[in-house]
Amino acid sequence: MTQARRKLVAGNWKMNGSLAANAVLMASLADGLRAFKGADTAVCVPAPYLAQVGALAASTGIALGAQTVNEHGAGAFTGEVSAGMLKEMGCRFVIVGHSERRALYGETSAQVAAKFVAAHRAGLEPIACVGETWPERQAGTTEAVVGAQLDALLDAAGESAWSAAVVAYEPVWAIGTGKTASPAEAQAVHAFIRSRIAARYPASAASLRILYGGSVGAANAAGLFACADIDGGLVGGASLKAADFVSICFAASNQGAQ
Ligand code: PGA
Repeated sequence: MTQARRKLVAGNWKMNGSLAANAVLMASLADGLRAFKGADTAVCVPAPYLAQVGALAASTGIALGAQTVNEHGAGAFTGEVSAGMLKEMGCRFVIVGHSERRALYGETSAQVAAKFVAAHRAGLEPIACVGETWPERQAGTTEAVVGAQLDALLDAAGESAWSAAVVAYEPVWAIGTGKTASPAEAQAVHAFIRSRIAARYPASAASLRILYGGSVGAANAAGLFACADIDGGLVGGASLKAADFVSICFAASNQGAQ
């Protein structure tokens, strides 16, 4: 598989931040990434801060993203946010199917697929998360679990959706734990993901960016990003520390297509 894909480093702030803290973080990122062109960068922020962070990011080259989206267009869904609203607020990306949403809020793979389609229809690029738990890995079912999560997306979304989408492989056991999949372990699953998608949509699979997520930090990013099928990172904890996030972006810029 050729490496013509430009890397993407996306921060997932999760439910963290405040108006004051966001302003400080974005000022540091703007400074650290001034004139940076080596990779695409994004921050996925809590919905109430989209306007603030969007304004702060506007002249920086850092794209804006959200962390979830409702699968419906509009209506009686109290508390929810639609893809059209996210688009209107300036989002380029939206994370769908993060393992925390699957585990804590009961999101099913079918629902995640509907969110993926809704995001695409609104002109957003979904970042679809897949990944296995530790017991699933121990049982040797990683490919079965990740394959089923992908199949739900593939069944729901046609080729046009895949040409502007991102997949994030996030082993649940590596998220926020400090335990990272080794580059070889991650690469193996990334290659599996690409081949699963290639079986239906070969052209889209070749250009699809597959991010690794799970305790990505300044120290391990370069090793992960050097792998043939790892096209960047979805970064949680380290995305809240400007120096770490900037280092991770630079690690991406030294690998692959620029
Ligand atoms: P982490 O989170 O980098 O803190 O492990 C990654 C994620 O959940 O997206």
